Amino acid sequence: MERLDKRLAATGKWSRKEARELIRAGRVQLDGVPCRAPEAKVDEAAPVSVDGVPVGADRPVYLMLHKPAGVVSSTDEPGERTVLDLLGEEYQNIGLFPAGRLDKDTEGLLLLTNDGPLAHQLLSPRSHVDKVYYVEVDGELDGDDVEAVRAGLTLGDGTVCLPAELEPLPGKRTAYMTLREGKYHQVKRMLASRGKPVTYLKRVKFGPLTLDESLPKGAWRPLNERELESIFCQ
Ligand code: URA
Repeated sequence: MERLDKRLAATGKWSRKEARELIRAGRVQLDGVPCRAPEAKVDEAAPVSVDGVPVGADRPVYLMLHKPAGVVSSTDEPGERTVLDLLGEEYQNIGLFPAGRLDKDTEGLLLLTNDGPLAHQLLSPRSHVDKVYYVEVDGELDGDDVEAVRAGLTLGDGTVCLPAELEPLPGKRTAYMTLREGKYHQVKRMLASRGKPVTYLKRVKFGPLTLDESLPKGAWRPLNERELESIFCQ
């Protein structure tokens, strides 16, 4: 979550002062509704418009990042290296944010965009976009784990998880896991609840996008035509 005036200023089109003036003048819409509070906290994926024109709409950018461990999936976190710090200068002030989050120690596919409506749609719980993770665990994954995950686990704190898929790989210490939701630390919490703590986690698919394994960790590239088509035809 970030302040509304900061979100506008991040586009590079307005200074923070100009952004506050626009907001107070009632010209800024949040989720389609006018918002006059510069300090309002805004979800990174929430659509923001000025005079009805979506912010960032004149230059939508879609990047696939191979997130390395050690960077946080946010745009601004004091004392931390963020995924934006991995990008060039030209990508700093155009309102880019990660569509969804990976833990600091999780690697793999992260979509960075300034297209709020698209991110909103991909992340909406109603969209049930599949996310596939490669996992390594301490312990051996067995048929009971596969069944429990398939049935929908209830975690120790009462959190109910939707049915998911667990496909152990030869050796049973590694697997692919497919989730249709994105609760906090979900893979780790689900497998910890089975007594198989995660020792390594990497996202290999996000909806129709597959991690381009030719991208070294920390590298990124714009989505290609085929990938762009696939995210808009969800
Ligand atoms: N589940 C987790 O536990 N962590 C992630 O980063 C993503 C999914």
